[in-house]
Amino acid sequence: MPLTSRIQTAVDTAIRTGQAGKAPPQLARALDYAVNPGGARIRPTICLSVAMACGDDRPAVSDAAACAIELIHCASLVHDDMPCFDNAPLRRGKPAVHKAYGEPLALLTGDSLIIMAFEVLARAAATDTERAVTLIRVLGESTGMPGGICAGQGWESEAEIDLGAYHRAKTGALFTAATRMGAAAAGADETAWTELGARIGEAFQVADDLRDALYDADTLGKPAGQDAINNRPNAVHQLGVRGAIRRLEDILSGAIASIPSCPGEAALCDMVRKTAERLTPVLPAHHLA
Ligand code: IPE
Ligand code: IPE
Ligand code: MG
Ligand code: MG
Repeated sequence: MPLTSRIQTAVDTAIRTGQAGKAPPQLARALDYAVNPGGARIRPTICLSVAMACGDDRPAVSDAAACAIELIHCASLVHDDMPCFDNAPLRRGKPAVHKAYGEPLALLTGDSLIIMAFEVLARAAATDTERAVTLIRVLGESTGMPGGICAGQGWESEAEIDLGAYHRAKTGALFTAATRMGAAAAGADETAWTELGARIGEAFQVADDLRDALYDADTLGKPAGQDAINNRPNAVHQLGVRGAIRRLEDILSGAIASIPSCPGEAALCDMVRKTAERLTPVLPAHHLA
């Protein structure tokens, strides 16, 4: 089955489980609204690609890992768009969950998706208990304190931001979760896979900074120029457009060089190269001269 279908099937199954029985109808609908249609699904794609490079001998566990990561990611976006964070009206080209369903249901949608992610991993224990426990631990480390998404969002409430810690926690943690969990799901040593995830995460952050600075809201499907408006650090402000693109290319070649040796190493290098192409923004005409 293609990776995209494996991810979609796993996400749909999790959401349907959360909507079953006497679930409150609006919150049940909001769960689906928050994850479908998805965005690039880049994190679960990386997770499954690493699992396959390591043998993918328990596909049900790999699918659970990929699904859990995507659920956490979608939850983080629902919460991030709320008025107490970025107060963003648009996400993936449609009204953000708090605009479509109101703030209380947006808060609960994010909460439910986070809990659902851990339930999905707990259910994978039926296939392989030891791997499931590792996956739960790694996802917890990437989501909470002191270095997960909560920490990343927490830095925005500090008077002085430690930029490295902020980016590693807010964006990097879920990419290191993707590579580590892909390896752990296939029974490989997850600790060897942190560097690849960290480098892809760093590249993703620079690419996101470029898109935020260069694109309009229609192209992005979410508000543009937010870093300047919110006075957030952005690689384009620091390095210029060309400098940021050079930085992106440097990080991605480092990412390829950091891939641990594994049975599917060549195919994984290809996946990282494809990710690099997808991440590199097409420059608007006035930047090409
Ligand atoms: C957006 O992530 C949030 C950031 C960490 C900057 P993505 O660009 O991966 O979002 P989707 O899932 O594709 O919409
Ligand atoms: C949101 O980060 C992603 C989280 C980790 C919560 P940003 O606020 O920088 O990203 P966008 O621009 O809303 O997608
Ligand atoms: Mg934010
Ligand atoms: Mg935001």
